[in-house]
Amino acid sequence: MNLSISNLCKTYGPHQVLRNVALEIEDGHCVALIGPSGSGKSTLLRVLAGLELPDGGDRTTASVTWDDVPMHFSDNALFEYRRGVGTVFQAYNLFPHMSALENIALPLRVVHGRTAEVARREALDQLARLGLEAHAAKRPGQLSGGQRQRVAIARAIAARPRVVFLDEPTSALDPEMKAEVLSLIAEIKSQRRDLILVTHEMHFAKMVADHMVFLADGQILQTGTPQQVMDEPTHPVIQSFFSRVLKFA
Ligand SMILES: Nc1ncnc2c1ncn2[C@@H]1O[C@H](COP(=O)(O)OP(=O)(O)OP(=O)(O)O)[C@@H](O)[C@H]1O
Ligand SMILES: [Mg+2]
Repeated sequence: MNLSISNLCKTYGPHQVLRNVALEIEDGHCVALIGPSGSGKSTLLRVLAGLELPDGGDRTTASVTWDDVPMHFSDNALFEYRRGVGTVFQAYNLFPHMSALENIALPLRVVHGRTAEVARREALDQLARLGLEAHAAKRPGQLSGGQRQRVAIARAIAARPRVVFLDEPTSALDPEMKAEVLSLIAEIKSQRRDLILVTHEMHFAKMVADHMVFLADGQILQTGTPQQVMDEPTHPVIQSFFSRVLKFA
């Protein structure tokens, strides 16, 4: 992906959460978005996923361009835009009354217009590709947290989105399940699907990401390769963040 952002602001009431965010990513495949709690990572991800409007809405002065195609922040344009992306959030948002298979097939039918039979076949195929076929008939309540999150990832990528957004996909999981989900994300990346990932898993981010973006207090303080950002932080806020988060890692 090539991603270009300029002048992106987001305000909630009196609180300016994103302050003139500007970013240029060239030829990125996996972008890790990191930074302290409350810095605006989820908000930025939600704007990029088309789930939240920047300040100004459809008259915004913000510019977001993917591979030279600008995002339009009108309801109609965003409705269309969201069909082309996948999202996975910390709380997996699977429908509790549906099986894993139905959870994946439903958006393929309703959002992407597949027939029931084609949606079912594609959903099964996706589950099989991720080693989850044994869980096809189970409902979320019958799956472990890690399995649920892997089904949520399967659902996000089933329609072959051009970019997948993941917001702390492992934060609710115990270490073993975390490892399962992280290896699935690494696997998706190796299939050359573009990912933007918010994570606190620094070692994983270093391993899997080709670009790292550090956000603090609504502003991007540093971008570069994970090695550059983690080993040569250019700002005291970044240094102090790493000295805290890597202390017990
Ligand atoms: N819908 C909302 N209404 C009002 N304030 C919000 C809303 N969403 C987020 N905020 C505020 O915006 C700031 C940034 O929130 P955000 O969730 O983007 O942070 P974050 O970097 O993802 O943090 P964390 O690492 O804890 O998930 C916080 O102060 C939060 O309280
Ligand atoms: Mg967040």
